[in-house]
Amino acid sequence: MKFFVDTANLEEIKEAYSLGVLDGVTTNPSLMAKVGVKGNDAVMKHYKSICEIVDGDVSAEVIATDFAGMVREGEALAEIDPKIVVKIPMIKDGIKAIRYFSDNGIKTNCTLVFSAGQALLAAKAGATYVSPFIGRLDDIGFEGVDLIAQIVMIYQTYNYPTQVLAASIRHTSHLIRCAELGADVATCPLKVITDLLNHPLTDKGLEQFLADAKKMQ
Ligand code: G3P
Repeated sequence: MKFFVDTANLEEIKEAYSLGVLDGVTTNPSLMAKVGVKGNDAVMKHYKSICEIVDGDVSAEVIATDFAGMVREGEALAEIDPKIVVKIPMIKDGIKAIRYFSDNGIKTNCTLVFSAGQALLAAKAGATYVSPFIGRLDDIGFEGVDLIAQIVMIYQTYNYPTQVLAASIRHTSHLIRCAELGADVATCPLKVITDLLNHPLTDKGLEQFLADAKKMQ
C-alpha cells in the first residue's frame, strides 16, 4: 500500500519524507489556501517545491470547471514536473478532461468521489487514481470504508488499472480498514501516519528493556 501525505505544508512534507515511507503527496485548493499561497506564479512554484522534496506522485488540482479550462490548467500543471498528477473533480466536463489527459499521457486523479458509480465512470475515462472521500461520507452518517470495498471489488472484476486512492482519512482505523480492503493508496494528514507508531505495550516494553539494560552497565 502506498502512503501519500495530504497537505501543501512543505515542512510537513519534508518530515513525512524523512520517515522513509512516503510515496507521494495530494493537495487541494483548501490545503493550498491554508498555507497562504497566493497568485498563479506562487502556486506553480509551490507545486514545484513539493515535487523537489518527494520521490513520487504529487496531485495538483484544477480550479476550472469547464472542459477547455481544465485542459488549459491541467496542461500547465503537468508541465511543472513529471511527478504532477492533474486532480480533476467528478463532474461531466471533468470526465471528458480525464479522457483527454489519459489519451495524451498525462496522469490524473479524479477527486470528490462519493459513490461506486462515480468511481466506475472515472475508471472508464482512464483516470490514474480515483479519490473516494471516506471521512466526509462518515460525516453524513454513511460507512465511508464500505465504498472502498465496493470500488476495489468492481475494479478487480474488470481489471481496471485505475488505482484506488482512499482520501479524507481521519484516523488510523480508517487507514487500516483501507489496507485490509485493498486500497492501493491512502492519503492522510502526517499525524495519521505517525499515529501508526503508537502502542502502549511498545512504550511499556521499551521502558522495561531500557531499565534492564542499565543493570548490565
Ligand atoms: O484531499 C482530499 C481529502 O483528503 C480531504 O479530506 O478531511 O478535508 O475531508 P477532509
